Amino acid sequence: MPGLNTLLDAFQRIYGTRPTKIARAPGRVNLIGEHTDYNEGFVMPIAIDREVLIAARERDDNQVHVTALDVEGGQADQFTLDDIPHHPDYRWANYVRGTAYYLAQENVRLTGIDAVMTSTLPSGAGLSSSAALEVCTATILQAFTPWRVGGVAIAKLCQQAENHFVGVKSGIMDQYASALGERGAALKIDCRALTYKAVKLPRGVTIVVADTNKKRHLAGSDYNTRYMECRNAAMLLSQLLDRDIPALRDVSLKEFKTVAKHLPDNLMRRVRHVLTENERVQKAARAAKRNDAVKFGALMNESQTSLREDFEASSPELDIMVEIARKQEGCLGARLTGAGWGGATVNLVRDEHVDTFVQQVDWEYRERTGIVPWVSPVRASPGAGMIEWEQGEAKA
Ligand code: GLA
Repeated sequence: MPGLNTLLDAFQRIYGTRPTKIARAPGRVNLIGEHTDYNEGFVMPIAIDREVLIAARERDDNQVHVTALDVEGGQADQFTLDDIPHHPDYRWANYVRGTAYYLAQENVRLTGIDAVMTSTLPSGAGLSSSAALEVCTATILQAFTPWRVGGVAIAKLCQQAENHFVGVKSGIMDQYASALGERGAALKIDCRALTYKAVKLPRGVTIVVADTNKKRHLAGSDYNTRYMECRNAAMLLSQLLDRDIPALRDVSLKEFKTVAKHLPDNLMRRVRHVLTENERVQKAARAAKRNDAVKFGALMNESQTSLREDFEASSPELDIMVEIARKQEGCLGARLTGAGWGGATVNLVRDEHVDTFVQQVDWEYRERTGIVPWVSPVRASPGAGMIEWEQGEAKA
């Protein structure tokens, strides 16, 4: 397992002993259903085979000592579980502290740990490395207690950490996928009920992620602006339709069309994206059930157009990456994934064309932008859990 031996060696070096437990939590890639989660609609992510790993050993006090191996050659933080303030400088540390803080709020008696963390997820690619870190932190901390909560509770708690401790108003999708992912299937999540259905992917196709390596600009503020626009639009729609509309989820496309002309143009387009995107998720689930990869890919393409034109969440590099991908043989669909404004695309590619696709997209993107991308097939993987290992070798 990549990263495991590095982690064990580093633990030995830092603490002079072996860890007793190791937790893993995967990143995610969303296949379809973007900017719908905080509108209480539908999303369809997979957890991927790239993850955060945390090795730990119990301490006999309530201190948490943690070293992040991948941050500037190994950055360390330490705090006490009795009183968890923000870290003034390290962003990654606030994901750990925030999660510990919200776990502690659940009246769980946590114990101090010595920990080392590493990640096989490219950071800033929109593959939810931060949600994976939160979910991994919750998984390792609770492994040292007799207390067990279900995956949905973990996801909610980690979302709280992100919303209130880190200050990003993200929805539930990333933490949910990291906590509950399934091998070989996407999760069609109802973001209001917080339930999901496993959707087996069509046969003969592979999911390929292509990171533009262009970090997002003003991502937080763009994201929070869209969040507010959607809330304002729901309020206006509730006046126009003369009934309570807690979230855009509560408006049908048909109803929306009757009042669309009364909305300011930008809000009209945001709503149109969210409502049509919810429909695309349902259609994609039906296409997957029929094993119709072509239709699934076409829906991904429609999602990209809607995100670019109506939701204005694309970027020049994402557009170039999508354009290059769609020219390749065997590419059935390509779209931005995650928040947008930078980060990665997700592509549906016929199995037999994956190798050429990866090489060509990598090469053409470099040629056109001068930026080295990260292009890789990913597999739908199980959600967070513990790893069993022996003498530095992973058993599972
Ligand atoms: C980010 C957020 C998610 C979701 C997506 C857009 O990844 O963390 O909750 O809103 O953007 O679909």
